[in-house]
Amino acid sequence: MKVLVVGGGGREHALAWRLRRDDPRIELYAAPGNPGIAALATCLSIGATQIDSLVAFARQERIDWTLVGPEIPLSLGIADAFTAAGLPIFGPTRAAAQVESSKSYSKTLMIDAGVPTARAAVCTTVAEAHRAIDEIGAPVVVKASGLAAGKGVIICATADEARVAADGMLAGGSFGDAGATVLIEEFMEGEELSLFVLTDGERVLALPAAQDHKRLLDGDRGPNTGGMGAYCPVSLTEQSPELVGEVLDTIVRPTLGAMRERGTPFSGLLYAGLMLTAAGPRVVEFNCRFGDPETEAVLPAIAPSAPLAGLMELIARGQRLPENIDLSATRSAVTTVLAADGYPEHPRKGDAIEMPAVPADVLVFHAGTARRDDGRLVTAGGRVLAVTGVADSLAVAQQRSQAFAASVQFAGRQYRTDIGWRELERRAGVT
Ligand code: AMP
Ligand code: GLY
Repeated sequence: MKVLVVGGGGREHALAWRLRRDDPRIELYAAPGNPGIAALATCLSIGATQIDSLVAFARQERIDWTLVGPEIPLSLGIADAFTAAGLPIFGPTRAAAQVESSKSYSKTLMIDAGVPTARAAVCTTVAEAHRAIDEIGAPVVVKASGLAAGKGVIICATADEARVAADGMLAGGSFGDAGATVLIEEFMEGEELSLFVLTDGERVLALPAAQDHKRLLDGDRGPNTGGMGAYCPVSLTEQSPELVGEVLDTIVRPTLGAMRERGTPFSGLLYAGLMLTAAGPRVVEFNCRFGDPETEAVLPAIAPSAPLAGLMELIARGQRLPENIDLSATRSAVTTVLAADGYPEHPRKGDAIEMPAVPADVLVFHAGTARRDDGRLVTAGGRVLAVTGVADSLAVAQQRSQAFAASVQFAGRQYRTDIGWRELERRAGVT
């Protein structure tokens, strides 16, 4: 069977790894892939957003089904183009991808469906935004509605800060078109959780929950990034399975139902970014695809016997998803991201990477790497490698991840040494 993976980051490397592990007979192609994915797949010189070329390739090579990693091709309509060409694809249509590509769409959908989320006003003028800031009061969150590579969210301690942020987006063009509409949102307090749900549009299967670490530095300090690490599973959900049930019943199913009613059903992977507030779980955001770096921790934690590849193929083919399959975590996984010098503002490219042999129970997923003409592996993006340690306990998984991360060398390398700290603290408190 031939499968095409669209994308070329750590998430796509982890997906490619899991597909091959679930079904070694799969012949994999990746567009564009990366030097890590190249060990598992034939990498194509077609970019993830070259939709016409991807359709032509899938047709010509008789690709059985396609899996899309990043949000941008989905928001550009890659699933619509493949479906129109009769090619099975895992990922939502352009209309359904708006759960991520338009925060104003997503917020309106949640309000209509009665899904718990922060109160917010959708504003297109400075005057509206200022009124909403006064009404909601500080602290308050200002968000660009469109896709802004994870950067369009500004948490403001004071109303003055919020006015400056909103003016920058609406009048100053600080996020281009993405900031032409803004959300002024109530600030929520609690722990964050990433829950991935496979869905055929109606039936759902939850993957074990994960926690991301968005700040650059240890102790959750420093600027926000695309994610410096993740771990899975999270005991908050392991110890109270009813929490996941509550999220499915009060958040995921009503959202999918409202999307079906609007004639824009969502199929693929719905990522619920949640805040566990004192009043229960509430939605921070939805994403229309697997999260990065959570995927690099979630997929290795799930039992090898769980048929993820087969489930994704069913969804790609528009078939019914069985709901009685256990996808829970049987091991713990901790992923430490190695980022380039200057990340997140100005990541430097081209630094040579020295990597020792990878031990058992460590997986190295390539995120932003390239091969020079002389064969040397070099940095080629902000997040360079995702190093996942797997073990029966989270503490050992963390040690494995950290020890190998420390042994990888490149100039200006940045990484956190405390991924999973909340969980380790929680467990220390319990025993
Ligand atoms: P988003 O891109 O919407 O996920 O926002 C990025 C990050 O900003 C989230 O992961 C949260 O840490 C934070 N955030 C977003 N919205 C809120 C909110 N309403 N209250 C508190 N924190 C928020
Ligand atoms: N880990 C955050 C994201 O994938 O959006």
